[in-house]
Amino acid sequence: MRKDVRILLVGEPKVGKTSLIMSLVSEEFPQVVPYRAEEITIPADVTPERVPTHIVDYSGTVTANVICIVYAVNNKKSIEKVSLAIVLEVLVPVILVGNKSDLVEHSSMETILPVMNQYTEIETCVECSAKNLKNISELFYYAQKAVLHPTGPLYCPEEKQ
Ligand code: GTP
Ligand code: MG
Repeated sequence: MRKDVRILLVGEPKVGKTSLIMSLVSEEFPQVVPYRAEEITIPADVTPERVPTHIVDYSGTVTANVICIVYAVNNKKSIEKVSLAIVLEVLVPVILVGNKSDLVEHSSMETILPVMNQYTEIETCVECSAKNLKNISELFYYAQKAVLHPTGPLYCPEEKQ
């Protein structure tokens, strides 16, 4: 059993990384967002997998067990940058997070699917909205699951004692 999970959120500026964390914590969309959220720890007994989970807002120096690459579904440039982020961060599983789904009618899945197919380290993708609190807890659950029950090529049973 792992003793904890560290989830790191990365992505282009203003896609909503800090808002997603604050929406999860307060169950309310923050009207005012700091540049970066403090690291938060979710106690084991309130997570689906019963493992203490740390959530870390973007920072260039931290280590993590899973990376959530956040893009905004209404921002094409932030979607294009997803590939670049994966190339730089291939050592842990990746979740693609399309935030701000409240702002568009169409899904970004069509655009993101080729990226999904290109990089096997992507465990899953999810569209969500920090504003509507849509799929927020799901996204952190998927991230937790990617660490605890990995399915991708990064999973080496021998190394995970
Ligand atoms: P940096 O820290 O500067 O890289 O930005 P960030 O990715 O942390 O984004 P942040 O949470 O600061 O949000 C940027 C802007 O997007 C803010 O004005 C938020 O209110 C807004 N925003 C965040 N999430 C959503 C969402 O789901 N829907 C809408 N409509 N706006 C959002
Ligand atoms: Mg931020």
